[in-house]
Amino acid sequence: MPSYLFDAYGTLLDLSAAFRIAEPRLGARLAPVLERWRATQLDYAWLAGLSDRYRPFDAITRDAFRDSLAAEDIVDEGLVDDLCNAFATLPAYPDAAATLQALKSRGDMCAILSNGTPQWLQASVDHAGLAASFDAILSTHAVRTYKPAPAAYALGTARFEQPAAAMIFVSSNWWDVAGARDFGYQTVWISRGNTVWPASVEQPRMIAASLTDILNLAAPSPPRG
Ligand code: LAC
Repeated sequence: MPSYLFDAYGTLLDLSAAFRIAEPRLGARLAPVLERWRATQLDYAWLAGLSDRYRPFDAITRDAFRDSLAAEDIVDEGLVDDLCNAFATLPAYPDAAATLQALKSRGDMCAILSNGTPQWLQASVDHAGLAASFDAILSTHAVRTYKPAPAAYALGTARFEQPAAAMIFVSSNWWDVAGARDFGYQTVWISRGNTVWPASVEQPRMIAASLTDILNLAAPSPPRG
């Protein structure tokens, strides 16, 4: 049976829905704040990983919210708290539950492999009603680094005791797909209808508009040798 590894944020969990709580306070500035926040959150994670100065994802996420608001001249620690609370209990995309249920009912193994802290991942999965869908929730906190570090992707092969080539990694973040493929996983990019796959980066095995499309993916052939 193939094992599926899912990125969490933006792949299974819908970031945009939760942050509408900030609309009354930010109005038209919500979109630029959120755009800057997501880029800053990833920058801070990569800085922590590459410089070998790990800080947990909840701390990085909080700093990114605060700094993105400050860039718009907004100082509001209450709003930072509210955004962090929203991030900790994100809803799932509508295509997540049915896809996970279908994979589980045919006997496939499913796990999250995310940069999120174990506490935030568990809280969101519980909140989204997806807890029963997963055989494991793997957080890169366990290895004190972030994707796309190979040590982060190695959590999946270690947990399921399978070679990477026999497993399928699913993410809506192109760089996450590229890192997972470099590690050796079969990969699926969920485009979520927004961007174009970067032309100079090798394509994943599948580009899909929705999670449900992965149900049509044939199981990876067993690695040779
Ligand atoms: C995660 C981010 C990268 O869930 O979306 O790890």
